[in-house]
Amino acid sequence: MANLNLLLLFILSISSSMIFLASSSTTTSSKFLQCFINKTNSTNNIYTPNTNSYTNVLLSSVQNTRFITSNTTTKPSFIITAATFSDVQASITCSRLAGLHVRVRSGGHDYEAMSYVSSGDPFITIDLANLRSITVDKAQGTAWVQAGATIGELYYTIAKNNRTVAFPAGICPTVGVGGHFTGGGIGSLTRTYGTSADNIVDALIVNSKGKLMNRKAMGEDLFWAIRGGGGASFGVVLSFKIKLVSVPSTVTVFNVNRNLGENATELVERWQTIAPKFDEKLFIRVVAQAANGGTTIQAVFNSFYLGKIDELLPVMKKSFPELGLKREDCTEVSWLESVLFFNGDLGKSVDVLLDREPQVNSSFKAKSDFVKNSISKEGLEKIWKFLLEAKDEPLILILEPFGGKMDEILEPDIAFPHRKGNLYNIQYYMSWSESGSAVSEKHLEWMRKMYEFMTPYVSSQPRAAYYNYKDIDLGAGRGSYLEDEVWGVKYFKGNFKRLALVKGMVDPENFFRNEQSIPSTVLFKQYSEIKIAMPKSSM
Ligand SMILES: Cc1cc2nc3c(=O)[nH]c(=O)nc-3n(C[C@H](O)[C@H](O)[C@H](O)COP(=O)(O)OP(=O)(O)OC[C@H]3O[C@@H](n4cnc5c(N)ncnc54)[C@H](O)[C@@H]3O)c2cc1C
Ligand SMILES: *[C@@H]1O[C@H](CO)[C@@H](O)[C@H](O)[C@H]1NC(C)=O
Ligand SMILES: *[C@@H]1O[C@H](CO)[C@@H](O)[C@H](O)[C@H]1NC(C)=O
Ligand SMILES: *[C@@H]1O[C@H](CO)[C@@H](O)[C@H](O)[C@H]1NC(C)=O
Ligand SMILES: *[C@@H]1O[C@H](CO)[C@@H](O)[C@H](O)[C@H]1NC(C)=O
Ligand SMILES: *[C@@H]1O[C@H](CO)[C@@H](O)[C@H](O)[C@H]1NC(C)=O
Ligand SMILES: *[C@@H]1O[C@H](CO)[C@@H](O)[C@H](O)[C@H]1NC(C)=O
Repeated sequence: MANLNLLLLFILSISSSMIFLASSSTTTSSKFLQCFINKTNSTNNIYTPNTNSYTNVLLSSVQNTRFITSNTTTKPSFIITAATFSDVQASITCSRLAGLHVRVRSGGHDYEAMSYVSSGDPFITIDLANLRSITVDKAQGTAWVQAGATIGELYYTIAKNNRTVAFPAGICPTVGVGGHFTGGGIGSLTRTYGTSADNIVDALIVNSKGKLMNRKAMGEDLFWAIRGGGGASFGVVLSFKIKLVSVPSTVTVFNVNRNLGENATELVERWQTIAPKFDEKLFIRVVAQAANGGTTIQAVFNSFYLGKIDELLPVMKKSFPELGLKREDCTEVSWLESVLFFNGDLGKSVDVLLDREPQVNSSFKAKSDFVKNSISKEGLEKIWKFLLEAKDEPLILILEPFGGKMDEILEPDIAFPHRKGNLYNIQYYMSWSESGSAVSEKHLEWMRKMYEFMTPYVSSQPRAAYYNYKDIDLGAGRGSYLEDEVWGVKYFKGNFKRLALVKGMVDPENFFRNEQSIPSTVLFKQYSEIKIAMPKSSM
C-alpha cells in the first residue's frame, strides 16, 4: 500500500534483540527485585510465581482462560500491583535494568491476553487495578479517570447523581479504561459522540525511561498515537482527562427478536443501509446466531433511543417501520440503566457496575470486519447457511452501526482510523467452557473458516479490523515496518505509518512491545520532511 512512499523514506527498523541481552533468569529476577525494593522501599506490591497469591492476582481480571491453562504461554516473572505512580516508574526503570520487558494490564480484557502472557519474551506485568480513581469536575464537564478503572466504574461515578451525564465507551462494564481508550472504544453512544478516544483531552503517561508526562510534555504526536493506536507500544498511560457528554434524563431501550420465518433476512438487509443513517439519537445493533436447535437464525435488534417512548415511536415509524416496534417492546430508563440493559442486567441495581470480577470462566475467540457495501439478500442467506451448518460451534455475529459522528471525524485526526464509508462493524465471537488445547484448536479453526468465508462481503485493501478486537491470526509483529505493515494497515489503515514514526521517536529501542506492537521505525531523513506529508488537521 504505502510501499512507494516507504522506499523514498528509507526506513530503518531497529532489531530489538540487539538491545536486550538476556542474562540467566535468577540474576534477572534478583536484579529486578533489588532495584524495585530499593526504589519503593516496599515488597507489598510484588507477586512472585509459584505462590497462591501470585495465581490469584494473575487470575483477578482474566477473561479468556485458554491462555492461562495453556502450557505454551509465558507468564509474568513478577506481577506488580502498582499503588502509586512511582511504583509504575520504578517497575519500568528496574525491568529495563534487569533485561525484562513490561506488559501493562488495566482491565485484563485483551482478546489475545497480551497484558498477562507472552509467546516467550520474559516480562513483568504491571497491574493497574488499584489505580482507578475518578475525579469529576462538574463545572468544566470533564473528569480525570485513572487507567485501572473499569468503564462500569466510570459510568457509575459520572452518572450516579446526575442522569444527564454520560461518556461514550463500550458495552461490557468490566472492560478496563487503559486498554479500551487507547484502542478506540465503541458502544451505544458512538454514533452520537464518536469513540472514547475522540473524547480524551489530556493524559498522563510514563515513557520507557520512567518519565511521567502530560499532554504538553509528551507532545502532540504521542498524544495522537495513544488515541486509537493502543498504549502498549508507547508507554504506560496512568490517567486520562475526558470530556463528559450529555444525554436526556430519560432514554428508551428495546429488543426486537426476529427469526427467519419472521423476515429476519429482509430486516437485516434493510438495516445495513438505514442504521448508519438514522437520527443520531437512535442506535440499533444486531446480534445474529443460530437458534432453536439449529433450525433457524435469530436476529436480535438490540437498541436504544436518546429520548422517551413517545418520541421514539414516530421516529421508528418513519425510519424502520418494517421492524414493527410496539410500545410494549420499549422501556424508559436512565442512561446508566441502559448500560445494564446492553449487558443483559436490566432490573439489577446499578451497583453491579462496580463489580470488577470477571463474569465468565471460559475461553473465547473473536475477529472483526468492516462492511462498506451492504450484503445482498442472497449473501445473507449464504451466511445464515454457514452459521446453521456450523452446528455445535456457538458462532455469534454482532453488527454495530457506524455513521453519525463517526462520518464527521477524519481518518488522520486521531490514530483510530475507521470513519466515513463504513456502514457497520462485524464482530465474530465464540466462547466455550471446555478446556484443553485440542478443543480450543477446533473452535479456532471454525473462526478462521468463518473469516475466510466472509471475504467477499467485507472491506478489502486493506481488509480492516478493529484493534480492540485483537486477532493474532492477522499476523505477529516482527519489529520491521515492511513485514508488520501486513497486519498494521488492517488495524490502523493510513495511520499505521505515522504510528511507526511516533514509535521510532518515543521508543526506538522497542522496550514496550508485544506480539502485535507497532514496529519502531526511524527515518534517515529529517522528521520535519515527513511532517509536511501529514494532514494539517492532526498536527
Ligand atoms: C467481554 C468483552 C466485551 C468487550 N466489549 C467491547 C465494546 O463494547 N466495545 C469495544 O470497543 N471494545 C470492547 N471490548 C474490547 C476491549 O475494548 C479491549 O479488549 C480493550 O483493549 C480492553 O482493555 P483492558 O484494559 O480491559 O484490557 P488489558 O488486557 O488490560 O489491556 C489491553 C491492551 O492494552 C494495553 N494496556 C492496558 N492498559 C494500558 C495502559 N494503562 N497503558 C498502556 N497500555 C495499556 C495492554 O498491555 C494490552 O496490550 C470487549 C472485550 C471483552 C473481553
Ligand atoms: C538504595 O540503595 C542506596 C545505595 O545502595 C542506598 O543508599 C539506599 O538507602 C537504598 N534505598 C532503600 C530504600 O533501600
Ligand atoms: C523504609 O520503610 C521503613 C518502614 O517500612 C522505614 O522505617 C524506613 O525509614 C524506610 N526507608 C526509606 C529510605 O524510606
Ligand atoms: C503441553 O501439554 C501437552 C499435553 O496437554 C503436551 O503434549 C505438550 O508436550 C506440552 N508442551 C509443553 C511445551 O510442555
Ligand atoms: C447535570 O449535568 C448537566 C450536564 O449534562 C448539568 O447541566 C446540570 O447542571 C447537572 N445537574 C446537577 C444537579 O448537577
Ligand atoms: C414479513 O413481511 C411480510 C411482507 O412484507 C409481512 O406481511 C409480514 O407481516 C412480515 N412478518 C413479520 C413477523 O413482521
Ligand atoms: C473457574 O475454573 C477454575 C478451574 O476449573 C476453577 O478453579 C474456578 O473455581 C472457576 N471459577 C469460577 C468463578 O467459576
